[in-house]
Amino acid sequence: MITLFKNIKTLVQVEEISKQFVSGKEMKNLPVIKNAFLIIKDEFILDFGKMKDLKPLNFDVIIDVSGKIILPTWCDSHTHLVYSGNREQEFVDRINGLSYEEIANNGGGILNSAKKLQQISEAELYKQSSKRLEEVIKLGTGAIEIKSGYGLTKEAELKMLRVIKKLNENYPITIKATFLGAHALPLEYKNNKSGYLDLVINEILPEISNENLAEFFDVFCETGYFDINDTIRLLKAAKKYNLKPKIHVNQFNAIGGIQAGVEFKALSVDHLEEMRDEDIVALKDTKTMPVALPSCSYFLSIPYTPARKMIDAGLPLALATDYNPGSTPSGNMNFVVSTACIKMKMTPEEAINAATKNGAYAMGIEKTHGSICKGKKANFIITKEIPSYSFIPYSFGSPQILKVFLEGKEIIF
Ligand code: NIG
Ligand code: FE
Repeated sequence: MITLFKNIKTLVQVEEISKQFVSGKEMKNLPVIKNAFLIIKDEFILDFGKMKDLKPLNFDVIIDVSGKIILPTWCDSHTHLVYSGNREQEFVDRINGLSYEEIANNGGGILNSAKKLQQISEAELYKQSSKRLEEVIKLGTGAIEIKSGYGLTKEAELKMLRVIKKLNENYPITIKATFLGAHALPLEYKNNKSGYLDLVINEILPEISNENLAEFFDVFCETGYFDINDTIRLLKAAKKYNLKPKIHVNQFNAIGGIQAGVEFKALSVDHLEEMRDEDIVALKDTKTMPVALPSCSYFLSIPYTPARKMIDAGLPLALATDYNPGSTPSGNMNFVVSTACIKMKMTPEEAINAATKNGAYAMGIEKTHGSICKGKKANFIITKEIPSYSFIPYSFGSPQILKVFLEGKEIIF
């Protein structure tokens, strides 16, 4: 089936040839076509251009989108969307003065979510997670990475990854799975960290590889969680099973996680709220994408990733939500893009590049997602009638989305 979208006010993020990612000064360039058309055939983009160049073709459907903007759907490259229950009590505790660290030390935090996850059935976990997935699709996300890491036992980690797999089979959104066994040390291993690493490396990892349940590998490289030696040990094991690293680093402390990530050819290093000059230098001219998670900084009131400093130093940057019950109970990429502009001083062009093209790269799907390009998936957002694409971050908290198309089909839930 061939569908024409005509009279598009602005067609955003167009590419003749797909670039891997954009970095440094290039991030300020967001290629657009004004008064444009877009043609899709089944689930793919067939053609696009200026209205004046539109050639007659046998269209099955013609949709007039006068006054509206079309842009590629968001690529959210870092989430923990599969989880059980919520942690609103910790939110209240933080308002009353406890820190994230104090809450975790009192048995809250990741271990609190792990307890809930170990108790829930796979069917109920799927149900809770699918609600969140539907919500983010309606908010314009067309590709998403989801991590395990709230299981912390072999059985519960596999349960999470099977739910991720099932979501991928049942929804038109592209989902990439990451194994995050080393997210926190379970209580039973409190005095036996190497025993837990043995479990992750020798028991869980081989099974995940066997069942083909994850493409990426993550570790929470942080003081009080997994140190740099643990991280290196884990990354070596992941390499043996061909799982590419995408790792949590520099959230509260800079302890060398970026350097380890670069050494092990991580696809991305994520969080980066605490960045030293040498961390920026380590990322320069590498294929490792730095990923910022501004709604986590917002929710926990911790520093924002120094995007300006990083981009001005020539680095690329991707933006993602970090959707999870503890540090970011929101999967709204529109809010992330706004917050990046408002709090990190990224321009709307940089933020949209970071949330589409660079986000796609941070999931290894830049050949099929992240831009309006012939042959790529027909995944795009049609906005309401808005004056310009800058209106999207400007109108923070009010998504300007009229319709979402994934694989050529309008999303209707
Ligand atoms: O990315 N930092 C580690 N993991 C999550 C938060 C986990 C939690 O609090 O449940 C994050 O912020
Ligand atoms: Fe995270």
